[in-house]
Amino acid sequence: MRFVRPFYIPPIETHHFESGSLIMRDGSTAAIRPTEPSDAVMMQQFVDQLSLESRRHRFFSESPPSQNSIAALCHSSDPRTQFTLIVTRIWKGVPHIIAAGSYWARDGQTSEVAMAVDDKFHGKGLGTLLLERLALVAIRRGFTRLWAVTHVDNLAMRDVFRESGFTAHESYEGDGMEVELSLIPTETTVARAELRERLATTASLQMFFRPRSVAVVGASRDPKSIGHRLLEALWTNQFQGTIYPVNPHALEIAGVPAYPSVQAIPKSVDMAIIAVPRQYVSSVIDECADKGVRAVVTITAGFAEVGAEGAELQKQLVEKIRQYGMRMIGPNCFGILNTDPNIQLNATFTTLFPPIGRAAMSSQSGAIGIATLAGARRFHLGISSFVSVGNRADVSTNDLLQYWEEDPATHVILLYVESFGNPRRFGRIARRVSRRKPIVAVKAGRTPSGRRAASSHTAALAASDVAVDALFHQAGVIRAESLDDMLALAAGLSAQPLPSGRRVGIITNAGGPAILCTDACEASGLMIPQLSDGTKATLASFLPSVSALNNPVDLIASATPDQYAKAIETLLSTDEVDALIILYISVTATDTADIAHGIVAGIENGRKAGAKAKPVLISWMAEGDMDRAFRFEKETIPAYHLPETPALVLSKAVSYGEWLQQPPGMVPDFDDLDLSDVRHICADALSRRGAGWLTTEETWNVLNAVKLPAPPSGVAKTADEAAALAKQVGYPVAVKLASHQIVHKTEIDGVRLNLADEEAVREAFDSIRMRLLRENRLEAMEGVLVQPMMTDGVEVMMGVADDPLFGPLIAFGIGGIHLEILSDVQFRITPLTDLDAAEMIRGIKGYRLLTGYRGLPTADLEALEETLLRISRLVEEIPEISELDLNPIFALPPGQGSRIVDARIRVVRPT
Ligand code: COA
Repeated sequence: MRFVRPFYIPPIETHHFESGSLIMRDGSTAAIRPTEPSDAVMMQQFVDQLSLESRRHRFFSESPPSQNSIAALCHSSDPRTQFTLIVTRIWKGVPHIIAAGSYWARDGQTSEVAMAVDDKFHGKGLGTLLLERLALVAIRRGFTRLWAVTHVDNLAMRDVFRESGFTAHESYEGDGMEVELSLIPTETTVARAELRERLATTASLQMFFRPRSVAVVGASRDPKSIGHRLLEALWTNQFQGTIYPVNPHALEIAGVPAYPSVQAIPKSVDMAIIAVPRQYVSSVIDECADKGVRAVVTITAGFAEVGAEGAELQKQLVEKIRQYGMRMIGPNCFGILNTDPNIQLNATFTTLFPPIGRAAMSSQSGAIGIATLAGARRFHLGISSFVSVGNRADVSTNDLLQYWEEDPATHVILLYVESFGNPRRFGRIARRVSRRKPIVAVKAGRTPSGRRAASSHTAALAASDVAVDALFHQAGVIRAESLDDMLALAAGLSAQPLPSGRRVGIITNAGGPAILCTDACEASGLMIPQLSDGTKATLASFLPSVSALNNPVDLIASATPDQYAKAIETLLSTDEVDALIILYISVTATDTADIAHGIVAGIENGRKAGAKAKPVLISWMAEGDMDRAFRFEKETIPAYHLPETPALVLSKAVSYGEWLQQPPGMVPDFDDLDLSDVRHICADALSRRGAGWLTTEETWNVLNAVKLPAPPSGVAKTADEAAALAKQVGYPVAVKLASHQIVHKTEIDGVRLNLADEEAVREAFDSIRMRLLRENRLEAMEGVLVQPMMTDGVEVMMGVADDPLFGPLIAFGIGGIHLEILSDVQFRITPLTDLDAAEMIRGIKGYRLLTGYRGLPTADLEALEETLLRISRLVEEIPEISELDLNPIFALPPGQGSRIVDARIRVVRPT
């Protein structure tokens, strides 16, 4: 077993890489796609304008290639044979190829690769990006090696091979050099690809967050209009760069000179905010490109959110943006905001500017964005930057995550998510970012249930919100149920350290709030430990005798500032708690400001006594200026209104801290999988019968090819064959109808168990056959499956359902007939790491059934984990497998593995 990192990009994801955009080292973008025959003229022009040297390096001759060669480069319809990717940019309104890379199959495993980059675009990392994309496409088509021949003096190409991180083998002959690259992903290839993506994405977004000049296009004279309010917001919040209003119908706006077009602006423009009516957006983008603007924020609505026509317009905009080398936020967005005092950018249409702070936020809804910014004040939450992503036509939440990952001003990332563009990419990126900074997300809208025909157990169970839960869980993303929860969490996480354990101390001046807080803590898995006699004695030394000295420590209504201070210091100083919640409710006429001072003093003293790593949260149920009261020196203590809120914050913070403590987990690779066999079986089934269930024989062959624990079995077409097979596998046997058309075999009496001899087997075969004959369905009978009877072991199930957006979702649960009643199932998104597999098995409610509960045999957990990991690898490698049900699997005692008893696999043509 070989381990690879969890972030590797499996073949299943590569379709995202064939067409779309790529970001170069300098942050500019370009469009990328496979060639079509109609590209021949553009390809000819590309080749013609290459320098003689580039041409010699690419085609081994300074003279232009023949028309036939050009035509061949424009045929990418059969990627098993040959494939060319082109990178294009528009200038003077005409698209041009700026780079082209191809591969041709040399044999089933190896393809030859060659590429050329327009001389003007050398040094931007384009060659490496092209090689990376070609490699991903080649892996998806089953190639394991790329081979190239190049001149020894072609240093740029040699750099590209080195940069890619693929294991290379070089050999020399004269001035020629042959390179063979192994396409098996390694830590190095994955790490380099990630780094390239992160650096390029961050560079491409710089202009949005730190522009030196901003043009507002559609800067209306009407003070109530969005265009005018954008200007207003920039002015009011004192943007530190230059602001250029653009309006062809106005000489000035509110006394500031306006420009008739972007081109008319005398100086350079870093970012344009577009708020013109929809029909003009495209031509404004042309103007921006002409002016060299690299970042546009399109506020204008009326695109993909309004239907097919708008979606088409949006598609055209994106094409344009990419070909111009720009990036776009929106359309249909509320804008962008950066509170850095050197920038002071409020490029939104409200003058509301949040206080500076450590939380960055991306919102898919403008309205929610406004509400959250307003709400941030209530939670004393400072914001570093905010982006309303709108329709996410170009800049996505995934891009922003990568920007904030590196942004020193951002310590917590908040996401309001309605839908995922590419959840698998989100999973990969978020998993990495979460290790550095907490991500708190509110996911609105549930996955529409039953969007797939619930044709198997796994699909039916998965048709809910489980995919989102699994995605967040695996990526370490903290899920908040509401905006208020998100803000509460953000306030806690951005101001206080993570708790190192689950033990919470509570100090209160009233019983009721303490009970609510205790209940909320315990319900969410926190502990309220009893205090030691020593600590109780310390508390007794300064508290009245009627106080409750155990946890929660009740200072009673007469609590004084000094008692608060001393109690806080005492609990912070003990090693009996990992976090502290302070509750205060104004029950008497005490001066709340004095109490606040007492609390601050207690925390300060506790910190001085060494309790630095313990988070402290407050529930302040009183009037008073909390902002002033709980912000001191370098520390802010979040104060909430309700006593349950600190419990919620701490419980999520603890879980996040525990996630951080875990090693990242590894995705194992198995060297005994016969994937080409599986590919062949699936392709054959698809070409013969189209999408649908594999036959029984095909199914068991797939399981055997990837060494899943299938018992010795076989499909018999006659009673004689059945008898022979039964003898081979050993009595007693089970005989089951083999049919990919009849899903529920028990309903037609197609399952016969415990057959002890040949006579019983023959009788079973004949009666199953007769039953189908009587029902006129004999053609559905492929034969019968003969397998040994399984008696021992605990029944579990494993399965896979393919979510159209999230990809394969893998399930583990207690199997057999209990599955549907108990729904005791854990889901994860593939690829599974070793830790995911272990956690899934231990995460089901019925886990005790696998550990020797009431005389049941203990299960071989290691073998179950390995089976899950093999299934994960199978479905990652073979995107044709859309559903898989292994139910039941008999989990046998340690060292004996498990046995799959029933199996079904469904295949579809991957999109
Ligand atoms: N370049 C520059 N300015 C232009 C222009 C161009 N090509 N074409 C028109 N303008 C100017 C107009 O002259 C006008 O200024 P004026 O009022 O001084 O004459 C200004 O741009 C706005 O044009 P107008 O026709 O009044 O548009 P509008 O204000 O009715 O609508 C939008 C423009 C963008 C606000 C509107 O199309 C829209 O999309 N609204 C919804 C936005 C939204 O909700 N976004 C999502 C938020 S979450």
